[in-house]
Amino acid sequence: MRMFVLLLGLLFPLAVAAGEGPAIAKQDWGFDGLHGQYDKATVYRGYQVFTQVCMACHSAKYVSHADLDRAGFTPEEIAALAKSMNLTTTDKLVSGLAPADAQEVYGKVPPDLSVITKARAGLADYTYAVLTGYSDDVEALAHAFPNSEVPAGAYFNTAFAGYAIAMPNPLPNADMVTYTDGTPATVPQMAHDVTVFLQWAAEPELIERKHLGVYVLLFLAIFTLLAYLTKKAIWRDVH
Ligand code: HEC
Repeated sequence: MRMFVLLLGLLFPLAVAAGEGPAIAKQDWGFDGLHGQYDKATVYRGYQVFTQVCMACHSAKYVSHADLDRAGFTPEEIAALAKSMNLTTTDKLVSGLAPADAQEVYGKVPPDLSVITKARAGLADYTYAVLTGYSDDVEALAHAFPNSEVPAGAYFNTAFAGYAIAMPNPLPNADMVTYTDGTPATVPQMAHDVTVFLQWAAEPELIERKHLGVYVLLFLAIFTLLAYLTKKAIWRDVH
């Protein structure tokens, strides 16, 4: 009983915290589910958005080009991409914007995005929601802030805690990047692709782990069956 109360005490604040704040819509992700995959073309489009837009402010300091081999990139592709950014394949993706400068300009230091899709409640859905959460809906604005006034230096965002975010809309219009595979670079498309890229960055081993999980379950099923048959054989003559 004491254990139960303790557990409840631990879980309750979490439940409350998760219940607060903006609602985060669920999205369809190719990496979800047992048969989930990281689609190489999507990861590459997301890479384009990340390196051409997000990296102006954010780093992914645990991620390097070499890691792209786990998304199916060949060594030649990896070398060419790194070279096009004047990086070695093992250099991490570090923004040119110094934290002190960011603090001065935006009043906040942009967080490192290496594991952002794992670090927030709502996971990948949260990142997508923030990227697409900028709104000029007057009613929503009036609902979020008395007198419809967003705090100075911040922008109205329906997904961000407190509805005010220091990040200017990074994807304000279509075609912020030119996709080399011809996919139209709409705002939802770019937000989706860069979120897949960030999910891959945070959990490159996700797919392997899922497949391993399937094998473990299969093994357990077979093992249980064998154990059952053995038991039956051993007890056969005992009545
Ligand atoms: C002009 C600079 C700038 C650019 C470009 C930019 N960001 Fe940001 N970003 C920020 C700042 C500053 C914050 C901190 C906001 C806050 O805490 O109020 C932030 C916060 C975020 C957050 C919320 C993190 C949290 O704490 O929950 C996410 C997610 C994010 N950025 C993703 C992106 C992605 C993806 C891109 C590229 C499409 C991008 N950002 C481009 C400056 C930028």
